Amino acid sequence: MNGSHVSVLKDEVVELLTDIREGSIVDGTVGQAGHAFDLLQATPESVRLLAFDRDPQAIEASRKKLAPFGNRVRFFQRGYEDLGTVLADEGPEKVDGILLDLGLSTTQLDSDRGFSFGGDSPLDMRFDTTGGPTASQVIRTTSERHLAASLKEVGQVPASKRLARVLKERARSGKMNTTSDLVQACRSVLGARVRKMDSATLPAMVLRILTNRELDRLDGFLADLPAMVSKGGKVVVLSYHSGEDGRVKRAFRALVVERGWTLPYKKGIKPLPDEVSANRRARSARLRVAVRGEDAS
Ligand SMILES: C[S@@+](CC[C@H](N)C(=O)[O-])C[C@H]1O[C@@H](n2cnc3c(N)ncnc32)[C@H](O)[C@@H]1O
Repeated sequence: MNGSHVSVLKDEVVELLTDIREGSIVDGTVGQAGHAFDLLQATPESVRLLAFDRDPQAIEASRKKLAPFGNRVRFFQRGYEDLGTVLADEGPEKVDGILLDLGLSTTQLDSDRGFSFGGDSPLDMRFDTTGGPTASQVIRTTSERHLAASLKEVGQVPASKRLARVLKERARSGKMNTTSDLVQACRSVLGARVRKMDSATLPAMVLRILTNRELDRLDGFLADLPAMVSKGGKVVVLSYHSGEDGRVKRAFRALVVERGWTLPYKKGIKPLPDEVSANRRARSARLRVAVRGEDAS
């Protein structure tokens, strides 16, 4: 691992959003500002960027990287699901483009914040390190039934009930505090590998999603979309697993049927094999685009 984040489908994202020549674009998950930097470079001064991330370290890193663009960028250490509130409080009334690049960055994965399980870090996994329960606390406070259902439905983890029971038992006896505690619990129930992956990979993804309430936040944002996007505006979402992509797909379809939006790429866009072999994160990526036409509501 090299610690530097490589943005997925960067050229495609930039190309999709650079027909916006004035107004506001939102990068709801600015991360290491890979997409944002190129977007700002490819658009004129008259385009402003609202940059969101829940992770204070990501905001700090992107602030530095985007410094050359001066006051074209406003930063918010908040969730993208708060966009509607921010627009109502501070304006603009509506925006012309929105980008979400969901999940976590390689920088977060390679940190000692509990997202990866190679070493032995505290089982934290919070994007927003300023508050909220850690993954270790989430295991303690989530019911065994809900934990099992999430492991099964979000991660398609086999033996999900047994794994949930072991996680809860170990948490109760104070033995679920580090990433190696998680790995050992997964090994004891699932063996070393599941579908050619380390057996902790999918349970760790599910725990991260639960810890950060990622699916609830995505649902909230998708429900608010019609009120936030101007006529002719465009929404671009990159997802990395079926739980996310299914939600985006259903919400975009509803915008077409109920409000007359259009989807320029019916099945979305997937990275080409060259990108996938150069960047593992691209493997599971799918980009979807929805456009609010001039006549759409
Ligand atoms: C895949 S990275 C984005 C990388 C970025 N596009 C780039 O090119 O550098 C995803 C980012 O989304 C952030 N994030 C996750 N959930 C969020 C939410 N609900 N609101 C805002 N940011 C969120 C994470 O902290 C992480 O920095």
